[in-house]
Amino acid sequence: MTTLFTRLRYHAQTVVLFTISDLKTIFFPISVFACATAPLHSTPRLLWGFMWIWMHQLMCNISNQSRSAAEDAINKPWRPLPAGRITESQATALRWVSVSLCAWWSAMYGLDLFLPTLTLFITTLLYDEFGLAGHYVGKNFCNIGGYISFEIGATKIMGASQVMDYISVTAVCVSGALIFTTIQAQDFADVEGDKQLGRITFPIYAPEFSRAFTLGALIGWSVFLSWFWHIGPLCAIGFIGLGAFVGFSYYTHRTEAEDRKSYIFYNVWLMLVHVLPLDVRTGLIRL
Ligand SMILES: *[C@@H]1O[C@H](CO)[C@@H](O)[C@H](O)[C@H]1NC(C)=O
Ligand SMILES: *[C@@H]1O[C@H](CO)[C@@H](O)[C@H](O)[C@H]1NC(C)=O
Repeated sequence: MTTLFTRLRYHAQTVVLFTISDLKTIFFPISVFACATAPLHSTPRLLWGFMWIWMHQLMCNISNQSRSAAEDAINKPWRPLPAGRITESQATALRWVSVSLCAWWSAMYGLDLFLPTLTLFITTLLYDEFGLAGHYVGKNFCNIGGYISFEIGATKIMGASQVMDYISVTAVCVSGALIFTTIQAQDFADVEGDKQLGRITFPIYAPEFSRAFTLGALIGWSVFLSWFWHIGPLCAIGFIGLGAFVGFSYYTHRTEAEDRKSYIFYNVWLMLVHVLPLDVRTGLIRL
């Protein structure tokens, strides 16, 4: 009995390790977005939503990591493949199991949830297998396609109805445009590694301009969104202040370690961006 339990725990840990480094970029921001935007209907919906997001993140991450074991062995030796917790063929099997599970689960909800799963599957395929990860524009499109699919799927599951209203649709569109213009935030810290792999990211293509652009985009979006979602003056000052802080920390602190830190702040800002629609729903942040 105990050995069975120990083994189950071991395998559960392995699966969680696949997703752990992107909980901050996918799981948490998408959960917050869906709760605020849908808006959240009930506790069971919340739990199903969490499960749906996490399962889909796992599906994408296994597919990614089953092919980058060599790359991960250097930077992330604790990941399941380089750590030897799982073999490459087991990971491939697990990948297809997760794809089937996600597809089946979403299909039970209907076509409108099956489509986000399909889009996630296709964007991951393009990104990993067809090498779009190595090209700036392709990478950006895959990221946005993926992000929007997560948002739509999670919002439909967490809300009272699977039909998205005007506010939800607007929130998804705004978030897509915002990701499109700020996603380079994740590339600054990886410039050295990406150069070695021969990748052209925005920060590599235009080192100075991409920093200035990021600064402008963060401030511009903060001002625009404060106005767009009608948040109160105090909240607006705080939110714009944070946006400016993140922008300036990217602009002035340029070492790899500092860029990693800025990226964490960026994710905090992104999380707040995703809470803003809540205001239109509840008037909670009118302060
Ligand atoms: C994990 O999956 C998410 C969602 O597709 C993706 O954004 C992220 O880059 C993936 N990370 C890894 C390490 O596989
Ligand atoms: C896995 O995802 C990471 C981060 O998104 C990316 O840099 C890497 O190229 C991907 N690996 C493969 C094999 O596509």
